[in-house]
Amino acid sequence: MKKDFQFSYELLSDWKDLSIEDQVLVDKAYDALETAYAPYSEFKVGASVRLDNDAIIIGSNQENAAYPSGLCAERVALFHIGSNYPKQSIKTICIVAKGDLLPLNKLLSPCGGCRQVMLESENRQQNKIKVIIVNQDNRTMVIPSVIDLLPFGFGSKD
Ligand code: THU
Repeated sequence: MKKDFQFSYELLSDWKDLSIEDQVLVDKAYDALETAYAPYSEFKVGASVRLDNDAIIIGSNQENAAYPSGLCAERVALFHIGSNYPKQSIKTICIVAKGDLLPLNKLLSPCGGCRQVMLESENRQQNKIKVIIVNQDNRTMVIPSVIDLLPFGFGSKD
């Protein structure tokens, strides 16, 4: 039996077409990008997260000479939230990136490890987290829930 998986997301030509609330989040993600420490990949990533109380937490990728010891921007932000705001739930996560080696029109996408960690946050709060990805050419994807990005994702019930 053949089955299909599909999900819906929005594709905007520019992040300036987002709501003001989400534009603010994008701005903060670009602020985060400035703190990226990425001397090895030269690929800077910024993440910003809006909590239920509208506080915005940011993270950026932090690399290490011992490569696996570094961490992605999304996880830096989410683990900071887990440590400092464990009772707050997350409304939206926004991810931006800048890499001179990458064509400007290349659509960006969070890595599998970050999808898994975002899914844990979504399952833990039992509420969807909206994911906004802003590409280098400003095209913007709005994905309604993390589970869309990780079908058959592994969770505590598994
Ligand atoms: N990176 C992120 O920060 N987030 C992702 O979702 C994908 C990859 C970082 C890790 C590393 O510092 C650089 O991008 C190149 O892989």
